[in-house]
Amino acid sequence: MRIIEAKNYEDMSKKAAEIIAAKVVLHPNCLLGLATGSTPVGTYQNLVKKYNDGELDFSKVRSVNLDEYKGLSGEHEQSYRYFMNTNFFDHINIDKSNTFVPNGLTEDSLEGCKQYNELLHSMGAVDLQLLGIGGNGHIGFNEPSHEFKKEVHCVQLAESTVEANARFFASKEDVPKYAYTMGIGNIMSAKTILLLASGKEKANAIYESFFGPITPKVQGSILQLHTNVIVIADEDALSIAKEKGVF
Ligand code: F6R
Repeated sequence: MRIIEAKNYEDMSKKAAEIIAAKVVLHPNCLLGLATGSTPVGTYQNLVKKYNDGELDFSKVRSVNLDEYKGLSGEHEQSYRYFMNTNFFDHINIDKSNTFVPNGLTEDSLEGCKQYNELLHSMGAVDLQLLGIGGNGHIGFNEPSHEFKKEVHCVQLAESTVEANARFFASKEDVPKYAYTMGIGNIMSAKTILLLASGKEKANAIYESFFGPITPKVQGSILQLHTNVIVIADEDALSIAKEKGVF
């Protein structure tokens, strides 16, 4: 595991974009695992800039996303499909038919999970999986639990996650309560994992995930067992690890 300290959000985003860009240059037909949320927005912006500067070609790149709210269509402004289109895909030359996000409108949860899981298996190993991390240590929407779920599943969002995500909705009541998410096994089968964290509200999650015991109560802690993890965290996100003298 490599932990790279970034000065701040901008610096984290630049460094992350460099790593993803290098993957696309080396493997033009790579499979990227992508994330939504506030954390990767700057990374996507940097990648779009590199594309506009003629440095990158996404025409053969394929992508799979970590998760999607259950009940939201891809046209809903808070859906993760909409996020991916507006923050990234609409601005680069990726073939959208090669980009995959769980279908939030599949009502039958078992069927929704089965479909996305089969799709993931059919695509082969993800070359580089981008991750953010929740304040409670969640990755994807794998919330604190007594177990690590292996494959795609439908999860009830933790109260703290609903509250954290309410900022994007008119009210807390409008935040969907369930989501489809890749399981920990799906995430761990990526060849490389790139986890980003910025801000003091992530400091405890970073400390517990990378310097604490491996436990499903902090789902990110499982990443300590992956052989190729890169963490780019800014000074604030590393503040507790530094205070405790472990970084
Ligand atoms: C997003 C995802 C989540 C977020 C996490 C952090 O696809 O799977 O695990 O990465 O909730 O969210 P932000 O970046 O908004 O702090």
